[in-house]
Amino acid sequence: MTNPAPGPNVPEITTSPLLEAYFGRRPERLPVWFMRQAGRSLPEYRAAREGVAMLDSCLRPELAAEITLQPVRRHGVDAAIFFSDIVVPLKLAGVDVEIVPGVGPVVAEPVRTRADVDRLVEHRPGDHAAITEAVRLTVAELGPTPLIGFAGAPFTLAAYLVEGRPSRDHLAARTMMHADPEAWRHLMRWTADITGAFLRAQVLAGARAAQLFDSWAGALSLNDYATHAAPFSARALSKVRDLGVPVIHFGTGTSELLVAMRDVGVDVIGVDYRLPLDEASRRLGGTTPLQGNIDPALLAAPWEVLEAHVRAVVQAGRAAPAHVVNLGHGVPPTTDPAVLTRVVELVHSL
Ligand code: CP3
Repeated sequence: MTNPAPGPNVPEITTSPLLEAYFGRRPERLPVWFMRQAGRSLPEYRAAREGVAMLDSCLRPELAAEITLQPVRRHGVDAAIFFSDIVVPLKLAGVDVEIVPGVGPVVAEPVRTRADVDRLVEHRPGDHAAITEAVRLTVAELGPTPLIGFAGAPFTLAAYLVEGRPSRDHLAARTMMHADPEAWRHLMRWTADITGAFLRAQVLAGARAAQLFDSWAGALSLNDYATHAAPFSARALSKVRDLGVPVIHFGTGTSELLVAMRDVGVDVIGVDYRLPLDEASRRLGGTTPLQGNIDPALLAAPWEVLEAHVRAVVQAGRAAPAHVVNLGHGVPPTTDPAVLTRVVELVHSL
């Protein structure tokens, strides 16, 4: 892997343990952050969100910046993750989408036919001013701690657009890619461009790394992933390629897809909790920095059990050229925040 040259907004790319690790080196301190660290496990988050709908909160720059900063202040993590959502660029483009509490993203008019796709792609990318402003405010407060920007991968977004709501096996999306491959390509190209523009706006405004979430890619066979999803993830990432920030690629249930996900052209692979990091590294040929993969379920286990697990994750991570400690999926809303702070202290002591 070669280190890209610093982009226009990346004055010094190696000033933090997080970025050192993302660029494949072993920093003095093992870096750690948590997916979904900004959210319902924090009482200060619940207070800030009082009476504001989820997607509205993402489009209020002061509020989004404040929520992004909360877990950094509280836990001393090595990165901030931008408070937003993968469906925000759909909303900005004028798609009727909401996040229903306890359910997830719900699309008013699911996209099932070629005619539905044709109507959808009439939506042009929206105005990213609120995102740009939120990132600027966040970065100004963060000091040396890097901000990670993110976006949803085209397949995961298309899964919501086609199903209309969260789904277990993404049947309708998997049907469409085979039944009408032309409509599928049309949908995926549009989705890639929308989500890529959202990611680019964050990096241009000061995010120093970019994570692509393909949360539901694990529903696909390797062949379907390679044919019907990966090329569009590459298309989305082409929107930030010239900016020089490291790119992390994460999905769940993706043990069989890791090499294909790396070959989309990313710097770091996020591994879910199902596959030990030494085995993940072996599958990737031992050259890819890894992020992960504490089992979120163990955050609710007795401390001794969790501590042994965190130590085992760190030990397995030594098989990779570099390691950023994270969870194998997001923080559960019921997590005791004190446990997260303690995990950060433990990781930093190792
Ligand atoms: O802390 C962070 O990680 C940053 C913010 C963030 C959110 N969503 C905020 C959020 C990030 C990175 C995401 C990404 C996201 N959103 C993904 C990919 C990561 C993953 O978890 O697999 C996906 C699939 C979504 C779609 C989505 N948004 C779901 C499935 C849900 C949960 C619905 C529920 O109520 O259980 C959301 C809502 C959401 N996104 C919340 C937060 C803090 C909860 C909203 C609330 O507080 O009511």
